Amino acid sequence: MNDPINLLDYEAHARQVLPQSWFEYFAAGSGAEITVRENCTAFDSLRLRPHVLVPVGQRDQSITLFGRKQATPFIIAPMAFQKLAHPDGECVTARASTQAGATFVASTVATCSIEEIADAAPGPKWFQLYVFKDRGVTRLLVERAEAAGYEAIQVTVDVPVMGRREADVRNCFSLPEGFSAKNLESAGHGSMNSDRVESGPSLYTKYLFDVDLSWNEISWLCSITKLPVLLKGILRGDDASRAIDHGAAGIVVSNHGGRQLDTALPTIRALPEVVDAVAGRGIVIHDGGIRRGIDVIKALALGAAAVHVGRPVIWGLAVAGEAGVTRVLNLLRDELDNVMALCGTPTVKHITRDLIA
Ligand SMILES: Cc1cc2nc3c(=O)[nH]c(=O)nc-3n(C[C@H](O)[C@H](O)[C@H](O)COP(=O)(O)O)c2cc1C
Repeated sequence: MNDPINLLDYEAHARQVLPQSWFEYFAAGSGAEITVRENCTAFDSLRLRPHVLVPVGQRDQSITLFGRKQATPFIIAPMAFQKLAHPDGECVTARASTQAGATFVASTVATCSIEEIADAAPGPKWFQLYVFKDRGVTRLLVERAEAAGYEAIQVTVDVPVMGRREADVRNCFSLPEGFSAKNLESAGHGSMNSDRVESGPSLYTKYLFDVDLSWNEISWLCSITKLPVLLKGILRGDDASRAIDHGAAGIVVSNHGGRQLDTALPTIRALPEVVDAVAGRGIVIHDGGIRRGIDVIKALALGAAAVHVGRPVIWGLAVAGEAGVTRVLNLLRDELDNVMALCGTPTVKHITRDLIA
């Protein structure tokens, strides 16, 4: 295979190097995987209205999130079990994120602990929280993230139960021997075994996560931390507005990369409604389907303050470790730089909604 020249090439390379069931765990969506596909194709159907005769010799894609400036508008989406892609897992991804001027989001069920990741990577980091039925476990995770210097909490709100990911059911996917959800070891919840009817992650969710999570818990979470709280997994303006009313500082427009409710709206179609409903009362982040710089400019044009980069980061990690993640992020940065020049938008502030036809 030739060297990868874009993020899609990295997926093809990762397929070659990962065991099939692990590749499928990373790639899978729920049901017929319609949302997985549409998260990407919905970007392709948007057309751009570029400006001309704007001097674009000096280009700058930096942004500021919660008072912290970063060189790119990229946030590494929280993704579980990164040690399946590389022996040093999340620590490697977080280091590459720091290097590339992005923010790293650590998953609750990461295979490296909150503290190990903080020690590995000095750059900006946020923590993604799954709310456990056991509020003591939940609170301790938030306290550990705060103590380790994480700068925001993303509460995932689209997993009352796990979507039926057929690849994982077929593969009886479990977290293999020697791997664990590191943050939960001390609570006795490190392992995730399949019972051959349901995958390990699906059973784990069923027994441990709070299926009755409601707006009350959002107010509670906002009350136990000084950090900004974002809700991840919102697709509707009314829910976004309610989130802000309950104390959220931001929204991540997400359908979990098509891994939860199949045929849920592709996120780029949901984004404008959420941006309008939030109306500047918090930040809005786009999540899902980012594969090219051209996707990034469209999400920024429709009002996202930043974009999550998901699966392509895993592919880079599997193919070439830290260098692979760095290259994925740098390719995306260079593609965005190219389209910013072609659109006559030298800075992120120039990227406005009228860029979209
Ligand atoms: C392998 C994998 C693991 C994930 N783990 C989590 C997780 O632990 N918590 C979470 O909120 N989202 C998780 N997600 C969802 C991502 O944060 C994000 O919403 C999704 O990957 C975006 O879609 P894309 O990768 O196609 O761009 C995971 C996604 C993948 C692919």
